[in-house]
Amino acid sequence: MSVKINKKFVSQFVSQHELDYAAPAAEAALSLVKSKNGPGNDFLGWIDLPIAYDKEEFARIKAAAERIKKMCDVLVVIGIGGSYLGARAVIEYCKSNNYNALHGDCPEIYFAGNSISASSLADLLKMCDGKDICVNVVSKSGTTTEPAIAFRVFRELIVKKYGEDGAKERIFATTDKARGTLKTFADRMGYETFVVPDDIGGRYSVLTAVGLLPIAVAGIDIDALMAGAAEAREEYLNAPFAGNAALEYAVLRNILYKRGKSTEILVSYEPAAQMLSEWWKQLYGESEGKDGKGIYPASVVFSTDLHSLGQFIQDGSRTMFETVIDIQSPKDHVTIPHDPEDTDGLNYIAGKELDEINHKAMLGTLLAHVDGGVPNIVIETPDRSERETGRLIYFFELACAVSGYMLGVNPFDQPGVESYKKNMFALLGKKGSEQRSAELAERIAKL
Ligand code: PA5
Repeated sequence: MSVKINKKFVSQFVSQHELDYAAPAAEAALSLVKSKNGPGNDFLGWIDLPIAYDKEEFARIKAAAERIKKMCDVLVVIGIGGSYLGARAVIEYCKSNNYNALHGDCPEIYFAGNSISASSLADLLKMCDGKDICVNVVSKSGTTTEPAIAFRVFRELIVKKYGEDGAKERIFATTDKARGTLKTFADRMGYETFVVPDDIGGRYSVLTAVGLLPIAVAGIDIDALMAGAAEAREEYLNAPFAGNAALEYAVLRNILYKRGKSTEILVSYEPAAQMLSEWWKQLYGESEGKDGKGIYPASVVFSTDLHSLGQFIQDGSRTMFETVIDIQSPKDHVTIPHDPEDTDGLNYIAGKELDEINHKAMLGTLLAHVDGGVPNIVIETPDRSERETGRLIYFFELACAVSGYMLGVNPFDQPGVESYKKNMFALLGKKGSEQRSAELAERIAKL
């Protein structure tokens, strides 16, 4: 078992008998996931994905990634929410948050279409100036406004630069297998397409072509990633409650929520994990935050944020708990040099590895935050290898589904996401939204 829950820093807040009481509910929720009889059961394709993925498409992903690597200096990945967070999370976590500056033999990979910021798009266009580019546009629905805008801009650039024939080589579309504007357009223009399976929602799609194509372009071993997820699947779907990390995590957060801990802060001590936290925030926030319920998912990177948010966590309102990702072996090694003059007084740690110091900072913070009344769940993971990353992804996905069912919500829909879109379309005067447009104009006039 690679992902482990260390309960030492939560045990003074949640006792063993509470875990024992909650175990049957977690096992029942897991059975609901496995039997596919619960709400949202038409979005459970991610459960068997690590062993039942489309091998032909997987080979095409690898082949396309090799072509992209040879053909371009920059890959622009266009998508929003579940259509970009997983790819970016895995690339940064397995490689580095500085991966573009350290790319080696891989193209730079930038993400676009995840905001409507003119500055962000203009900057990216400047960064692509004079470089060979490819585009991977990712949209399950094919109609999401933010990526559609970015795709229109980048398609125009590619066609100007390489012509319609060149665009056929350089544009890759990941979308529904048969339906939607993007699929129809990509087929008409002759772009290679990859599939977002019908039964996998955006936030569960990182191990489909949505995540795998950009991840493979980054030079990450997608076989190992899938193998890790497959091992985790085997383990968490079958292990009993005691020692089943996915069930233990789901139960602990559920008990803490019932105690009034309505915010969960995902903590890492590794800047490369920041986007993993963003992916996690979407996974848990979109899955659980509905029907007036749910734990608000937040994240921090320590020790950085100990110098900004540390005060609040230590001493502010007691509504949160922390979940710490403890990466046990470092990817890189830096040793503190000895200074004969010791002007900065750091010789007491000279010769030590930075990772050892980071772990001491973690231990000191855990003890301090527990003293401050903040329960801490610790998720231990051996390292940031592809295999362990695949395991961690599956662990979080399964725990999220179990946790959502325990909370009594459908973890696989996101009805609330539509509200802002309807208003935005009405304000922009989109055809078909005339009535809402008039209602909003009246409301705005009264403000
Ligand atoms: O999880 C989700 O469903 C969302 O985050 C979507 O992935 C996001 O809205 C993008 O949708 P689409 O892929 O249809 O463009």
